[in-house]
Amino acid sequence: MTKKILLNNDVSIPVIGLGTYKIGMNDDETYRAVRTALDKGYRHIDTATLYMNEKPVGKAIRESGILREDIFVTTKLWGTDILNNRIQMAFEGSLKNLGLDYIDLYLVHWPVKGMVSSAWKAMEDIYIDGKTRAIGVSNHLIHHLEELLKDATVIPAVNQIELHPYLIQQEIIDYCKGKGIAPEAWSPLGSKKNSLLQDETLVDIAGKHGKSPAQVVLRWNIQKGIVTIPKSSHEERLAENIDIFDFRLSDDEIKQIDKLDRNRRTGVHPDFIEF
Ligand SMILES: NC(=O)c1ccc[n+]([C@@H]2O[C@H](COP(=O)([O-])OP(=O)(O)OC[C@H]3O[C@@H](n4cnc5c(N)ncnc54)[C@H](OP(=O)(O)O)[C@@H]3O)[C@@H](O)[C@H]2O)c1
Repeated sequence: MTKKILLNNDVSIPVIGLGTYKIGMNDDETYRAVRTALDKGYRHIDTATLYMNEKPVGKAIRESGILREDIFVTTKLWGTDILNNRIQMAFEGSLKNLGLDYIDLYLVHWPVKGMVSSAWKAMEDIYIDGKTRAIGVSNHLIHHLEELLKDATVIPAVNQIELHPYLIQQEIIDYCKGKGIAPEAWSPLGSKKNSLLQDETLVDIAGKHGKSPAQVVLRWNIQKGIVTIPKSSHEERLAENIDIFDFRLSDDEIKQIDKLDRNRRTGVHPDFIEF
């Protein structure tokens, strides 16, 4: 069983989940990967409207034989649905695609310039309706959060951002924690665009613990209080990535990993996203 932390509204979230972006080339592969992950012990699945895989992801969850309340499901609102003023409709569409009565966490996928506050108001309405247990944001920088918090009546439960040892974003982490917003890492392994997992420091620390560099990075996330959602399409890696609860990094090892920061993004800078 994976560990959980409490969000700011007392909903608990497993500290490690499964990222599903491009997890399968088609619906069958996606379905199989999510079923495998659930069999291996994952109880937190991250999807998004953008990934076009809510249907097989939802089917895998529904057919897993695991109680719905034991699986934490996140999906996300895409920018064009904000721009076209159809946020409620987009949420209903995600519920329908997933085939679920409720989701656990609904996120604004990226901030839409000039619409950060208005989008959040619509998210608050969805939350009040009760079909999502928590609402949050993704890819929000401090200035986006400041804009949002000016008028907010609900504090975002989560801010999901690109975060790995080459892009630590400590200022945002500190800001979020100060406001009761849980930081969550996307592309925690640096995605396949990065050579992060060959980094000598990580290889060295991994060797000392008899673990892999991926396990060291994921352990570093959770010891820093950061929820993490690695993706893998391979059974053995799915098992490896969740097997991180039987060792502990020392404070010195955490500091060594923190020093790897080089502000290297694999994704778009949130101020320059286009829809
Ligand atoms: N909110 C956002 O804007 C946003 C943006 C991007 C991603 N995300 C979310 O974050 C999730 C994770 O990010 P990501 O998929 O970009 O990247 P990631 O999880 O950092 O890395 C995935 C890559 O690492 C490989 N990998 C996985 N486990 C490994 C291991 N133990 N050893 C070596 N290689 C390993 C995978 O290959 P194989 O699959 O071949 O094993 C894949 O190429 C996404 O799936 C998505 O749910 C959110």
